[in-house]
Amino acid sequence: MSNKPRVFSGIQPSGEPHLGNYVGAIRNWVDDQERYDNFFCVVDQHAITVPYDPQQLRSSVRQLAAVLIACGIDPERSVLFVQSHVPEHTELAWLLTCSTPLGWLQRMTQFKDKSTGQGESVGSGLLTYPTLMAADILLYQAAIVPVGDDQKQHVELARDIAGRFNNLYGESFVVPEPVIRQVGARVMGLDDPTRKMSKSEDGQFHAVGLLDEPKMIQKKFSRAVTDSQTDIVFDPERPGVTNLLTIYQALSGETSEVIEARFAGKGYGDLKKNLAELVIETLAPIRQRYEELTADPSTLDELLAAGVERARPIAESTMDHVRQVMGLR
Ligand code: AMP
Ligand code: TRP
Repeated sequence: MSNKPRVFSGIQPSGEPHLGNYVGAIRNWVDDQERYDNFFCVVDQHAITVPYDPQQLRSSVRQLAAVLIACGIDPERSVLFVQSHVPEHTELAWLLTCSTPLGWLQRMTQFKDKSTGQGESVGSGLLTYPTLMAADILLYQAAIVPVGDDQKQHVELARDIAGRFNNLYGESFVVPEPVIRQVGARVMGLDDPTRKMSKSEDGQFHAVGLLDEPKMIQKKFSRAVTDSQTDIVFDPERPGVTNLLTIYQALSGETSEVIEARFAGKGYGDLKKNLAELVIETLAPIRQRYEELTADPSTLDELLAAGVERARPIAESTMDHVRQVMGLR
């Protein structure tokens, strides 16, 4: 057993992983890999809360797992696995659902956003999704949950769910803490900088995929929506240019002052060109490792099977305890 603090985080295989995922989550997981005892999960059971194609899901799970490794998640140092391979996730989710008030779930802004206009035909999984997410985290007794800004509310709910369970049945779960980096916690769409970059947006120029070809990356940045002003500065009133500068800052690690000085007197064209180059440079080794890794599908299968082997005993031990205290054994 490691004595490092335990981390759990998840990512949905619901479409191509994008630059927002990388900047807001994956790169932080990679950077802090040494400091923590890490569990990273491809959450396929979350991806089925909205309409989806089974064939597509199967291949997206594999693609995403390979992308995570290509980004630098080391399957030796971190436990990398697929959610549905550990059945305890759904078991605990149900048990937690039974002590979670409806109001807590209805309050979630993501549920409100995603269910708008669907009336009562909205899938009930979209409502109870945060209890599955709480189960993911609590099963492993994780103390730290590194996520992008959009998941903060769900991690806070997981805290409340853990606290309530501990009150009802006695100390059972570590109460987890969300960890959100300041720079890049919310990358916006290139086609509309007022909307979060997301896998479910359609527009061809909305998101930069982590496996996009360099030409495509250049094209996407060259079309990025900015504004009619000229100076290149971080300014919350100007979401387009600020989003581009934020991506630049996250990937270069430079301060905002240094970046503003670099682009002083230059035009948006220069910023877009330089940023596209930086993104291409960052993603090139990831694409290459991805190609190498997926050349032989059995390697990935073995890595994922080894991940489950390491995850499952911990999940089982938590469930043994939970079943006992809930009177189910
Ligand atoms: P998802 O794609 O919703 O499964 O998200 C996986 C991780 O990426 C979560 O930690 C999200 O908070 C993070 N993330 C998703 N979209 C963005 C974005 N546009 N900017 C920053 N982080 C994001
Ligand atoms: N709901 C998260 C998202 O859409 C993914 C997720 C599922 C997750 N389970 C998790 C993130 C547990 C952190 C911890 O991004």
